[in-house]
Amino acid sequence: MKIKADWILPDLKQAQKRTKKEVERIDHFEIPENARFIGQGKKYYISTFGCQANERDSETLAGILDMMEFVPCDDPSQADLVLINTCAVRQNAEEKVLGEVGNLKRFYRDNKDFVIGICGCMAQEEALVQKIITTYPQVRLMFGTHNIQDLPNMLYRVMFQHERLIQVYSKEGEVYENLPVHRFGNYKAWVNIMYGCDKFCTYCIVPYTRGKERSRTMDQVLKEVQELKDEGYQEITLLGQNVNAYGKDLHTDYDFATLLEETAKIGIPRIRFTTSHPWDFSDAMIDIIAKYDNIMPFVHLPMQSGDSDVLKRMGRRYTAESYKELFDKISSRIPNVAISTDIIVGFPNETDEQFQHTLDMVKYCKFDNAFTFIYSPREGTPAARMEDSISKETKSKRLAILNKTWNDFALEKNQAYVGRTVKVLVDGPSKKNENVYTGYTDTNKIVNFTGENIAVGQIVDVKIECAKTFSLDGKAV
Ligand code: 5AD
Ligand code: SF4
Repeated sequence: MKIKADWILPDLKQAQKRTKKEVERIDHFEIPENARFIGQGKKYYISTFGCQANERDSETLAGILDMMEFVPCDDPSQADLVLINTCAVRQNAEEKVLGEVGNLKRFYRDNKDFVIGICGCMAQEEALVQKIITTYPQVRLMFGTHNIQDLPNMLYRVMFQHERLIQVYSKEGEVYENLPVHRFGNYKAWVNIMYGCDKFCTYCIVPYTRGKERSRTMDQVLKEVQELKDEGYQEITLLGQNVNAYGKDLHTDYDFATLLEETAKIGIPRIRFTTSHPWDFSDAMIDIIAKYDNIMPFVHLPMQSGDSDVLKRMGRRYTAESYKELFDKISSRIPNVAISTDIIVGFPNETDEQFQHTLDMVKYCKFDNAFTFIYSPREGTPAARMEDSISKETKSKRLAILNKTWNDFALEKNQAYVGRTVKVLVDGPSKKNENVYTGYTDTNKIVNFTGENIAVGQIVDVKIECAKTFSLDGKAV
């Protein structure tokens, strides 16, 4: 397949560069005249993989498409345009995306005007883009994480000039304000506080796919939160790859603790934030979380490994001991706090003893929830170049042991809720039974419950009657 001269292809080496250059802040957006109405009579479908940052980006894509008069639909077979917003963090996320692209091929075969576009983190990967160029001709458009705002122009070229177009920039990135947003939730919203990551953990592709750490100004964040409050939102989640680093790049006197406090003062009933790196989790942050009732007592604190040598090779900037200290501080100073984590097993050459240290840490911390993964080599990252003599079978066995271990503790943690009355933000009737409602506690536990006159988006008191590993059952009181 021919590479066209005006295509812009991803370049991981370029994406890795970090300079001291001032971040450009762009707050003006408009649809070019020629693309203004190209959605008239057309439907779009967006499929989103991966983390909350992608969910939020999809809301921007939808906002832009709405302005161009496209109409959303929830069935790709009915759509004229399908955008797949992808994740590159592990190989299996990529496989899912390629499966979906394969499924869409039949619609393209029947209708050559059907446009399939791939965006997000996978589009930032060199090898993947080459593979799509050569083996998936039905993909007409690829763009990365840095040029969502250029969607109207790209669609004009693909839909009206019938180009196949690839525009993936590998750069540190800008901060765009005032892009349109079509929020998918009516009472819960995501709020970006910063973009990118500079941590370069050795296994992770994110710093390459999303550019450098760059914060929005506090004024912009608080303005968005105030608007959400005025619109009646009940819960917001402040988003960043590492929220603890918020504000450092702005060279001002405020940081994440300040932002959290100012957000709390606006008075939205529930505030969450994610993700916190254990490095740089300040005492001031702990004090603010403990001080305000509307900051949820829930911390996602990725541990990755319980072994200091592995952590060092992962480039995590903390030891098993310092993780433990931080864990203890958070648990003792924030009343009723729940803590979840991420853990990777089978990092290159992880020994049995090192894995045992991870299990020991899980036994010590008794996490409320854990997201556990087998290490997946990502091309271009330092860990992908490390020797690895651990077999796939050993890695799978370790994952199973780890899961059994944390599950047992999670059940034990949940059992302590039985008999207690908790506040639940109602998401809706459960999918399996419309007489049962579902929602989350302030500590981020899923509750299935029965009750009369329950409305979605309400915060209700629920008495917990039964505990399971991944959820609680109860009755509204
Ligand atoms: N392999 C496995 N898991 C990974 N994660 C990030 N990169 C990889 C990788 N290469 C996990 C980490 C991170 C979570 C979002 O995904 O645990 O915290
Ligand atoms: Fe990846 Fe580490 Fe950045 Fe998290 S902090 S996004 S794991 S590089």
